[in-house]
Parts: sequence; C-alpha cells; structure tokens
Amino acid sequence: MIIETIVTTVNQRGEANFAPMGVTLGDGEMLIRPYMDSATYRNLLATGAAVVNVTDNARLFAEGAISSPQFPAFPADMVRGLVLKDACSYYECSVIEADAASERANFRCRIVKKGILREFIGFNRAKNAIIEAAILATRVRFIGVENILQEYRRLSEIVKKTGGEEEIRAMQYLQDYVERQRP
Ligand SMILES: Cc1cc2nc3c(=O)[nH]c(=O)nc-3n(C[C@H](O)[C@H](O)[C@H](O)COP(=O)(O)O)c2cc1C
Repeated sequence: MIIETIVTTVNQRGEANFAPMGVTLGDGEMLIRPYMDSATYRNLLATGAAVVNVTDNARLFAEGAISSPQFPAFPADMVRGLVLKDACSYYECSVIEADAASERANFRCRIVKKGILREFIGFNRAKNAIIEAAILATRVRFIGVENILQEYRRLSEIVKKTGGEEEIRAMQYLQDYVERQRP
C-alpha cells in the first residue's frame, strides 16, 4: 500500500527540500519513487538519506506539490536530513539500493529510526480532497487546465462541506495556481 507523505532530503550544501511523495512502507524498509527531474531524486542520489514524514496537515501537501517551501523542521538523529515539526510520525531512512534505470527511480531504504511527535487526528474528506487536488496540480501538463478545474469544482464542494479554514485556503491556493497555468 502507498502512503502519502512529505519526504525531506538535503542537497550537498545542506539545503533542505520538502516534497509530497507516495511511499511504500515494508518490514523495516521504505521504498521511495521520485521522478528523475525532482530535487528529491537528486538529493537521494547525492546523500543516500531521507526523512519520510507522516502528517495530516493537508496544507503541506498543497504547498509542497507546486512550490519549494521551507517548512519548520529540526535535524534528524541518524541520517542527514530534517524532521518536519508538524509530522505525526516520521521515519529516518538510509538508501540501500538505488535503481535509476527508468524515468521514475526506485530507492530502497532501511528505516534506521522511527519517531512519533503527535497523535494522528483522523481521516477527513476535505484533507483527502486536497491531496487529490495537489496531485492533479502537479500534472497540469498531461491532464490540461480545464479538465483539472472541472475536477476541482467537485473537490471544492467536499472541502467546503467538511474542511476548516486551513483546508479552504489550501484548496484556493491550488485553484489559483492551476488557473495561472492557462495557456
Ligand atoms: C500526494 C502526492 C504524492 C506524490 N508522489 C510522488 C512520487 O511518489 N514521486 C514523485 O516523483 N512525485 C510525487 N509527487 C509530485 C511531487 O511532490 C512534485 O512533483 C514535487 O514538485 C517534486 O518535488 P521536488 O522537485 O521538490 O523533489 C506527489 C505529489 C503529491 C501531492
């Protein structure tokens, strides 16, 4: 099963990168599959390390998908990387195998530390809708602006019905971004 997370990596100069990534959690291992044009890919190759953060803060998915934000974070214990302050739990990961033979690379990692920062509050349709909307925003080139905006109308209804202020703002942020991509 794929879990949607925020993956933190650092480059050779120690600059942090935060990116939403769907990862596969296995027995003591984590599989991270970044596209080769992503900073996450470059950093994983350069440092062999990442922190996989599990969070219910949907805003971080919206912002991380379409910009290069710096979220509040603190240094990881066992790997070169940063733990997201708003993570519910996190996994410090060390690469054991890198397969970069296709457009989407496979980084098999060993989990060297697991940490828990706060309770996971629970599932919510608005947060789920924002994660869907964030993925769509990263695919404007393939799906097209109008198709995405049509899907956003449905997702916005869910966010308005079941979300709070923060979710409504995150949805609006994504919508504004997609509208700016109109040719
Ligand atoms: C929920 C979610 C899951 C994603 N999963 C992946 C993934 O597994 N691999 C990937 O390359 N991009 C994935 N993306 C898209 C990246 O987050 C996006 O392209 C980002 O800009 C890449 O970031 P980077 O260049 O900072 O590494 C996902 C986006 C979202 C919203």
